[in-house]
Amino acid sequence: MFLSSVVSELRAAGCVFAEDEARLILATAESPAQLRRMVVDRVAGLPLEQVLGWARFRDLRVLIDPGVFVPRRRTEFLAGEAVALARAGSVVVDLCCGSGAVGAAVAAEVPDIMLYAADIDPAAVACARRNLPGALVHQGDLYQALPLCLRGRVDVLVANAPYVPTEEVDFLPLEARLHEPLVALDGGEDGLELIRRVFRQAPEWLAPGGSVLVETSDEQAASACAALLDAGLEPLVTSSEELDATVIIGQMPIR
Ligand SMILES: C[S@@+](CC[C@H](N)C(=O)[O-])C[C@H]1O[C@@H](n2cnc3c(N)ncnc32)[C@H](O)[C@@H]1O
Repeated sequence: MFLSSVVSELRAAGCVFAEDEARLILATAESPAQLRRMVVDRVAGLPLEQVLGWARFRDLRVLIDPGVFVPRRRTEFLAGEAVALARAGSVVVDLCCGSGAVGAAVAAEVPDIMLYAADIDPAAVACARRNLPGALVHQGDLYQALPLCLRGRVDVLVANAPYVPTEEVDFLPLEARLHEPLVALDGGEDGLELIRRVFRQAPEWLAPGGSVLVETSDEQAASACAALLDAGLEPLVTSSEELDATVIIGQMPIR
């Protein structure tokens, strides 16, 4: 198949960046049959990254399996904040890890961390294991997935938990609603249900001076800070205008 015919099929299906996508698909396909399959899947509306089997995240190519949440560009900011807090030897936990993109970025940019990751969705756990060969990846509900030996030892706890309010899920792009699991999107009534649970238990797991970091929308930042204060941690809000990203950080007192 030639570039021009892939471009026309993608354009006819409504792909706005048909030419860029066609180049990526052609560069990734390893056989004519695979190329055909990829074009058919993209035309049917699968997210480009699930079609390609990978997503660009910071400097990494992160593997993405079908049905696994595609890491968003804005989350590169959360990963960068986690990178800035981690040191060689740090215990880092990527909770709600999805593909493991955030943990993979920290491991790639900070040498010699001890990385753990966890997610409730078995498909995400399998995908994260492929992206995090040097980490222990567990399956389960938030902290229940983690080994108890990590209590009081986590230096950087990063959790890109779902934060879309339930009634806004229907307004997400069709690609997300059809091809990403609801559990990866729906953050409960005001979007902060999971994040409140992450904050509430964070003090049990953080080391003295350790930090918990989550991503929220700009509008949710004040409520998220209140939840962090309720958990006994001092909140700090950081944001990136360029990436339209907001990150809430709580630090455990050094004692
Ligand atoms: C917004 S996605 C983020 C994935 C990944 N961290 C990223 O940034 O690409 C949220 C992830 O949280 C996971 N999740 C949702 N509820 C969870 C829970 N109760 N315990 C653990 N993981 C959960 C979902 O399966 C999904 O992979």
